[in-house]
Amino acid sequence: MPKEIRFEAPVQPISADDCLDLRHRVLRPNQPLSACRYPLDEAPGTLHLGYREGDGPILGIASVFHEAPPESSAGNAWRIRGMAVDPAYQGRGFGALLLKGLIDYATAQQNPDDPPGLLWCNGRTTVEPFYVAQGFSRVGDIFDLPPIGPHVVLERVLR
Ligand SMILES: CC(C)(COP(=O)(O)OP(=O)(O)OC[C@H]1O[C@@H](n2cnc3c(N)ncnc32)[C@H](O)[C@@H]1OP(=O)(O)O)[C@@H](O)C(=O)NCCC(=O)NCCS
Repeated sequence: MPKEIRFEAPVQPISADDCLDLRHRVLRPNQPLSACRYPLDEAPGTLHLGYREGDGPILGIASVFHEAPPESSAGNAWRIRGMAVDPAYQGRGFGALLLKGLIDYATAQQNPDDPPGLLWCNGRTTVEPFYVAQGFSRVGDIFDLPPIGPHVVLERVLR
């Protein structure tokens, strides 16, 4: 069972369905809505966070899944997907708060007796500095993820 942690408003857990609108509008506007559902959306341990002030609309989203990087058997690995902030609200720190929430959650899942775990994502090259600012490092070369474009693997050790 995943360990639950408390989040403070305006960052709060949301459902996978709650993520669809921003995933579609911000991340995959040229793809069908069905492409905005991810295979592990409902898997055990998955967490979706939203940025929402009061009863207002969800202005930012971020998800984390218990999933190892390709060709890795790391058992204690967590993958970030679907980081998106409403374009009208980008650059106000919402994304950084959501990412911090995911880091806190993945860190809480660590067993102190095990080797440090890993948090990773396929990040768009355009936003690499956003992840680097929160302790992630680029691993390997730039690769293409059609139809979205160039990506890099970004990793952060969980302690
Ligand atoms: C990437 C994204 C989630 C960041 O959320 P945000 O709320 O706009 O970012 P924040 O305001 O929290 O920025 C935090 C830091 O990252 C930096 N940053 C954010 N976006 C950046 C970008 N595109 N390029 C460079 N730096 C960026 C900010 O300058 C800020 O640095 P600072 O603390 O030194 O000022 C958001 O801009 C977004 O949805 N972008 C479009 C979708 C996207 O590319 N998602 C990522 C897919 S991998």
